[in-house]
Amino acid sequence: MNNYIQHLGLTAWRKKTSILLAASLLVLLILGLQFSQSEQEKAAGRNLKDKDLMESFDRDIALALKNVKFVELKPTKALNALDQRILSKLEQPSREEITMRKVAEENERSMHEIEKQLGIPFVNLDMKNPYVPKHRIVHFDLKGAPPKIGFLKKVFPLIKTLGATGILIEYEDMFPYDGILKNITAKNAYTVEQVTEILRLAAESKLEVIPLIQTFGHMEFALKHSTWSKLREVPDSPQALCPSRNASLDFLKEMVKQVMALHPRISYLHIGCDEVFQMGECEVCRQELHENLFLRHVRNVANMIHEKWPRLRLIIWDDMLRHLSQQSMQDIGLGSLVEPMVWVYAEDIYRFVQSPVWDKYAAVFKTAWTASAFKGAFGETLYVPDARRHLENNLRWIDVMSQQAQFFRHGLSGIVLTGWQRYDHFAVLCELFAASIPSLALSLLAVSRGYFNLSLKAPLISTLSCPEHGTTSRPSPFITLESDVHLWDKLGRCMFPGSPVFRLTYRLHNTESEVLDYLKMTVHHKGWMTAYNVKHNYSLPLRVDELTSDLPRIYHSLLALTRAAYDTMNEIYDYYTIAEWIEQRIYPYIIELEKIQNHSSILKNVNNWPSRPLPPLKDLQRLGVPLPEE
Ligand SMILES: *[C@@H]1O[C@H](CO)[C@@H](O)[C@H](O)[C@H]1NC(C)=O
Ligand SMILES: *[C@@H]1O[C@H](CO)[C@@H](O)[C@H](O)[C@H]1NC(C)=O
Ligand SMILES: *[C@@H]1O[C@H](CO)[C@@H](O)[C@H](O)[C@H]1NC(C)=O
Ligand SMILES: *[C@@H]1O[C@H](CO)[C@@H](O)[C@H](O)[C@H]1NC(C)=O
Ligand SMILES: *[C@@H]1O[C@H](CO)[C@@H](O)[C@H](O)[C@H]1NC(C)=O
Repeated sequence: MNNYIQHLGLTAWRKKTSILLAASLLVLLILGLQFSQSEQEKAAGRNLKDKDLMESFDRDIALALKNVKFVELKPTKALNALDQRILSKLEQPSREEITMRKVAEENERSMHEIEKQLGIPFVNLDMKNPYVPKHRIVHFDLKGAPPKIGFLKKVFPLIKTLGATGILIEYEDMFPYDGILKNITAKNAYTVEQVTEILRLAAESKLEVIPLIQTFGHMEFALKHSTWSKLREVPDSPQALCPSRNASLDFLKEMVKQVMALHPRISYLHIGCDEVFQMGECEVCRQELHENLFLRHVRNVANMIHEKWPRLRLIIWDDMLRHLSQQSMQDIGLGSLVEPMVWVYAEDIYRFVQSPVWDKYAAVFKTAWTASAFKGAFGETLYVPDARRHLENNLRWIDVMSQQAQFFRHGLSGIVLTGWQRYDHFAVLCELFAASIPSLALSLLAVSRGYFNLSLKAPLISTLSCPEHGTTSRPSPFITLESDVHLWDKLGRCMFPGSPVFRLTYRLHNTESEVLDYLKMTVHHKGWMTAYNVKHNYSLPLRVDELTSDLPRIYHSLLALTRAAYDTMNEIYDYYTIAEWIEQRIYPYIIELEKIQNHSSILKNVNNWPSRPLPPLKDLQRLGVPLPEE
């Protein structure tokens, strides 16, 4: 390089302008190299070799500038605008300007760096023209962990701020049914006053309310009772209603009547109709095709409702329609009765609802809804959602909606972000709503903006009341979804309503892995407290002591966790939900540890041991292993 600069000096007298250009470009190049170098250096943690390199670059720049000074700077008319600009830069290599450029460049670079660190799932969205669904509805599944009203009072404004336009309330047995339906109501159901209060709070936050009433499948909460078992499609299964009995429709009519009495001003009613696992099995239904059975029942229910509330728009889940023919749907006029809600909670939406199905829907219906998930979709026993997978599901829905909306005469109506609390009435609790607010916030922001990128940091951080990290204006990764899929790390210090329960799941996670490691080690891996040792009352007390030395500490952390669970959940959930959650999540581990404690005292109580061989297990005979020959 030095050679080149000398050469430059020698020829400078002859080709002033072009030399000037070349020199200045060189300077810019070197400056550029320096900037990128300093950036890399930061990333690499500044090692000695880089430092030497930096100093040599500094020398080169000084030299280059010195050499350039030899050139007589006499701007001529021939100098074009570019030359002028470069010259003026050379004449006044304003430190301020360089610093500004450097900062801008660094910021841009670190923005890219940060975007990468966020770990946002890539979905090829049209960033110039983001698609935003008209309605963004948050699902409240009350068949598990129904929240206290005080919690909803805080949650409604929060979801409104994040972009929600409404709520889908799935009451199931939490609705205060009365009269002949009294028995299908849970004993801890909301009262009429509480439902009214929920609706008032929703209205206060300007959230549209869509109640959901099951009318075909998932009728477990009602059909499980002996009073209503006669309406089952299959006598020993409470899952599905028999559509061929007049009493079934009377029963639904009463449910709708009671729900409508408390929701007089709604525009939409969701009538379920998903996962009708048992159809066409009873005496009467067996005579008919599944296709007709399903469609006829939907039509009967829709007509029954429209008779009294003709303007009410009815929504059904779409899964039972996926395999029906367009002709049969059109023959029955399904398009004027209901609107389908197309639900897919996995990432790859077209895998579950392929293009021909979309074409069919667009031909039959004027509009459709979609449903994504922010929790309750990736495992029945999870206790905190994988926010990254749910975000991807929602971003992909944006993509699919932007493609499909044009084919429906009235476009798509909106998206519901479902948040299942149980997979069905009989299942255990999955992720609690309070523990899923960070996941909901990400997905809701995404569907409300039509994209998810660094610019959503501010709304997320402020809505969730998160502490600002550092005081620099420099952008920093506010989430790191690749490594922090549950958001415990990045959003664990936020103070949104329910955040103590969110933090509790982190504590549960840590305690649980400690317990599981301990159990694995003690009863499976090590050789002195296995089922065999316990069964035969045969072990070495010294080893038993060793294996149980950690037990009291782990046991006490479970007890502390139980108390913390009660205290943090008490503000949000009723007693029964807290008790159920603790029994499902913590209690089994407490029992396991107590068993080990009991076994250890039994094993240590032995002072004299029998000769080997120990008596073989009699039960082995059942497996074809004969008794020993005497
Ligand atoms: C985020 O995406 C939006 C929409 O395309 C765009 O306007 C905005 O500049 C982006 N922000 C960042 C920080 O990338
Ligand atoms: C409802 O259940 C109660 C017991 O909880 C029972 O006494 C009553 O007979 C039931 N009523 C009807 C209508 O089935
Ligand atoms: C249902 O009711 C209709 C009249 O409303 C009646 O004609 C029909 O026989 C009834 N069906 C059964 C199975 O009771
Ligand atoms: C442990 O032993 C105690 C005292 O005998 C007993 O009350 C308890 O039920 C046992 N616990 C388990 C989990 O076996
Ligand atoms: C184990 O052995 C001790 C000492 O002989 C005895 O007291 C105890 O009852 C035995 N327990 C079992 C479960 O066999």
